[in-house]
Amino acid sequence: MLAEIQKYLSMHPWRDTIEYFECIDSTNTYAKKMAMQGAAEGTVIIAGQQTGGRGRLGRSFSSPAGMGIYLSVILRPGCRPEELMHLTCATGVAAAKAIGRPATGIKWTNDLVLGKRKLGGILTELSVDPTKGIVDWAVVGIGINCCQKPWQFPEEIRDMACSLGMDWQDVPWLIADLIIALQQMRQELFTGKAEIMAQFRRRCVTIGSEISILRGENVMHARAIGVDDAGGLQVVYSDGKQETVTSGEVSIRGMYGYL
Ligand code: BTN
Repeated sequence: MLAEIQKYLSMHPWRDTIEYFECIDSTNTYAKKMAMQGAAEGTVIIAGQQTGGRGRLGRSFSSPAGMGIYLSVILRPGCRPEELMHLTCATGVAAAKAIGRPATGIKWTNDLVLGKRKLGGILTELSVDPTKGIVDWAVVGIGINCCQKPWQFPEEIRDMACSLGMDWQDVPWLIADLIIALQQMRQELFTGKAEIMAQFRRRCVTIGSEISILRGENVMHARAIGVDDAGGLQVVYSDGKQETVTSGEVSIRGMYGYL
């Protein structure tokens, strides 16, 4: 698999810092360990299967063998954490571009969606150097369902999940495109922020929807009206009150289901 991916990445700056595992608990967990040990920006971890794939808010991410892409990359942007609030949005845009289907949307803040179903997700984790107050490392993890047939998803997610319906032999090519898109995203992360966020808004299927906002046990209904430049979701409640919610504090559901 690794050789196949590298074949499509000749001269690419991240080509020789890719590690591939047949099976691992979580590529994000492994990448974080490597980042703590000093691994360079552009170190890419890919797995054929994850036994403990993780999603946002402590959820799991189903990661069976021969079905999907499970990839994490280490970044060292050297900025303050508040300058990196749009990283998950930027990664979503990069992943959607690599997938190459105009219909690929993003459910705020970190779900890739196709036809009202979840196609994949993004998990961003970072560490701040407490003495300098700058980001020491960020790990961006991406999971994409590539080959599952509808009945192959675990029962608990079958109603809301989908895949790209690909043949496994084409997956290395998509992984290479994803690495290219991520490296380009990294290059434009600060200089191209306005354009990245404009692209996020165009892909974001949450804007304009009636949503349920879950804060712990508390559920509130609102309409999503926009996404600010830091990736916060702007919502309006039925009494006209407006608020910007951030991804760390809430989970969003459609009023009548996943979207
Ligand atoms: C979510 O659905 O909330 C995000 C899912 C992110 C899954 C990817 S798969 C590669 C990387 N390793 C993990 O354990 N998680 C991310």
